[in-house]
Amino acid sequence: MEKKTKDQAADKVVLYHEKYRPQVHFSPPEHWMNDPNGMVYYEGEYHLFYQHYPESSVWGPMHWGHAVSKDLIHWENLPIALYPDSLGYIFSGSAVVDWKNTSGFGSSENPPLLAFFTYHNPDIEQAKKIEIESQAVAYSLDKGRTWTKYEKNPVIKNPGIRDFRDPKVFWHEESQRWIVALASGQVIRFYSSPDALNWTYLSEFGEGYGCHDGVWECPDLFSLKVKGTAETKWVLIVNINPGGPSGGSATQYFVGDFDGKKFTSTQHQPLWMDHGRDNYAGVTWSDAPDDRRILIGWMNNWQYAGDKPCVTWSGAATFPRELGLVKDRSLYLLTSDPVREIQTIRGESVELKKGTVDQLAVLSDQFAFSKAPIELALTFNQAENTRITFPSNYGIRLKNAKGEYITIGYNNLDKFFYVDRTHATGIVFSDKFAGIQVVPYIVTTPEIEWRFIIDVSSVEFFTAGGRIVITNVFYPSDPFDIIELFTENGKIDYTQGTITELHSIWK
Ligand code: FRU
Repeated sequence: MEKKTKDQAADKVVLYHEKYRPQVHFSPPEHWMNDPNGMVYYEGEYHLFYQHYPESSVWGPMHWGHAVSKDLIHWENLPIALYPDSLGYIFSGSAVVDWKNTSGFGSSENPPLLAFFTYHNPDIEQAKKIEIESQAVAYSLDKGRTWTKYEKNPVIKNPGIRDFRDPKVFWHEESQRWIVALASGQVIRFYSSPDALNWTYLSEFGEGYGCHDGVWECPDLFSLKVKGTAETKWVLIVNINPGGPSGGSATQYFVGDFDGKKFTSTQHQPLWMDHGRDNYAGVTWSDAPDDRRILIGWMNNWQYAGDKPCVTWSGAATFPRELGLVKDRSLYLLTSDPVREIQTIRGESVELKKGTVDQLAVLSDQFAFSKAPIELALTFNQAENTRITFPSNYGIRLKNAKGEYITIGYNNLDKFFYVDRTHATGIVFSDKFAGIQVVPYIVTTPEIEWRFIIDVSSVEFFTAGGRIVITNVFYPSDPFDIIELFTENGKIDYTQGTITELHSIWK
């Protein structure tokens, strides 16, 4: 019988199975990735482009990397779609299907895919001039496999604004026009066009609204039905860096109305799509079937993105999330839930019987597949607990035998969710990484579901009916293979729970 030496086995690091490599999230085969770009669904394929530097695992001259998926879960990597040229690097943007061939690049039988991106010109930047960024178009007539840049680019010239980027284009049915939302300094500007090539300035939104502690980037604008009503509202997503509620990069949103020219909202305070440290630059798919609004973000934070310990690749996308809208008293709130296609990777599942946590319950003792990736859903009974000893804190901890851990908890006294990431790395690679995140929230229902997608180096936490999401990455020296529930100063019941093994998407 052939006997493998230990060394032979150790040498073989299989692509997509390196240390820290996400197993149920998209990440590039090698080198740097930041924002997801150009998400569009066409002929059975979800396209995902992304900010990519193919020569190194740190940020550099930007290209659009490319992958496609039939189910939003399993990805096929394709060649780079857009390369930098004399007009500049290829910064973030969007893509659409030009169904009516308004641009004239295709035909009605073969409508073109249009990609809108920002040219970021390093020469103009070096010359310390302002007009660094402008907007451009490329088209594809072969299902996104090859792209031709429009010869008259740029289609929107720089109007004298330093940060002028990240075009998100959509077809506005009522006015039969294309609309673009563009991050422009501290506001979002809107333009319209009959053919996606000639653009007219419409209006801007932002002064006096939301958070302005950083640069406004990567907007998105779409309508959503308010759950359980006949009402439709418009949601404007505005990514901001820094200025997020937990530090660094984050995504704020505004709910209001859009009449084809102007976005208006009565909501002056920012609402946050994700309170964690690692969901940035998220935008949604164009043309997704069944009117679904599906978002994917970059699971990272500019505060430490270039420093983290991934050697051959850097960056991953969040798990794709289906967005919804609910009305809570006078506030409209976005909800995010992992897309239902997660079922395609579910493996063995263990039902947890009703139980009580009194200081400690080691969940990972109860099933064989203690290693990520796993999905976990737990329903805590707050009402019952008022009759037993109410704990000051309760929650879940992922940890390893070395004493490294990440905690996701609820503080019952002061009413907030929190994540403690002070001990979630093997080595300190950035002084910005460790910390405790706090999300004020009063649980008013007797029961509350906590849901997690736990991957090799990330945890996404969904609760309060998708109103609260907290996404975080971690880099422990050994994998977090212990999962425990804890309480402090009291007990809590869980009424049901399911732990499900998730299969790697990179088999
Ligand atoms: C957001 C961002 C965008 C820009 C891109 C450059 O993370 O700064 O505004 O287009 O990254 O890579």
